[in-house]
Amino acid sequence: MLVHFVTDEPTKIPAIRAMLEPQYRVESRLLGKGNTKISSDAVLMVDADLRKAAPVEQLKLVLQDLLGVSEKLFVVQSHLHHMVAQAFALGATAVVSRPKEAIPKLVQIEAAQRAAQADSAATSSAITNSAAAFASVFSAVQAGKLFMLSDAENATSEIINGIEQNGLGVWLDDVRRYHQGTFQHCLLVTGVAVGFALDIKFPDADVKRLGLAATLHDIGKARIPLAILDKPGRLDPGEEEIMKRHPVIGYELLKALPEISPEILDGVRHHHEYLDGSGYPDALTAPEISDLVRLLTISDIFAALIEQRPYRPPMSRHDAYKILCAMDGKLEPSLVKAFRNVALRA
Ligand SMILES: [Fe+2]
Ligand SMILES: [Fe+2]
Repeated sequence: MLVHFVTDEPTKIPAIRAMLEPQYRVESRLLGKGNTKISSDAVLMVDADLRKAAPVEQLKLVLQDLLGVSEKLFVVQSHLHHMVAQAFALGATAVVSRPKEAIPKLVQIEAAQRAAQADSAATSSAITNSAAAFASVFSAVQAGKLFMLSDAENATSEIINGIEQNGLGVWLDDVRRYHQGTFQHCLLVTGVAVGFALDIKFPDADVKRLGLAATLHDIGKARIPLAILDKPGRLDPGEEEIMKRHPVIGYELLKALPEISPEILDGVRHHHEYLDGSGYPDALTAPEISDLVRLLTISDIFAALIEQRPYRPPMSRHDAYKILCAMDGKLEPSLVKAFRNVALRA
């Protein structure tokens, strides 16, 4: 497999060659210099300082030439959330915090390329496209800028297409392989919600509505301090309180958009409400909780359980479904029952 290494720092090139050769063939390119075409099954590996405007602008130019390359591995040495967001906004499919962590990723990529060349091509590009669209929404909110609702709608459409073509199981496996943190969570929740809506034969417009609510449901987290959002362990009670503000923050952010629909606002504000009144932020009870919110809440909890977190391994889909079934009084039992198909089917 060919690894095409792009950097803004010439001294990094011999170190990468020493680490990867001879197992991988390495071609290198210094940002701002030269112009090399690479084959689409090569892996692009980028190690550049994304805090500086010049390398980011040069990278954008390089990446324009490499749209056909499906694997884009970024080394983000300061593993801060906004740097990771920047990497995904540029089109990264995976992010590592040290060059040597690239090796297991390359092994994974090579195995995945061999195992599923034809089948996963469509899904991978749907993931890359939807993650890039989602990342640009998230980065805009972090930077205090207005974002384009159309970016969130595009991300949702890519996810719906990916699941219609290849099924939910492929989507969940691929997202868990390639993405992390809040991006992984939102891509998974949207995938699960869309899979659920398709399974219970929702009309197209409702699939889109639920998908968009899922894409945007945690957008308020873009305004939660990074020290809390990126904390590698469990939150303490004070941090938990701050984290619990994200539904209202998301609601306030979206309320300002003229084209936003009331159902999406309802989903974003109320996805942590429970039928028995024990949820937040408004302690709603069953009659006040819409069907869209009930579906979204089930999808959100399930996705959170099966995703990879730094401090615990992902739960199996079977175990995650058992937890949903045990949440007596909080979730709509008929929907939890209907969800069985989605939760357990491969
Ligand atoms: Fe949430
Ligand atoms: Fe969530």
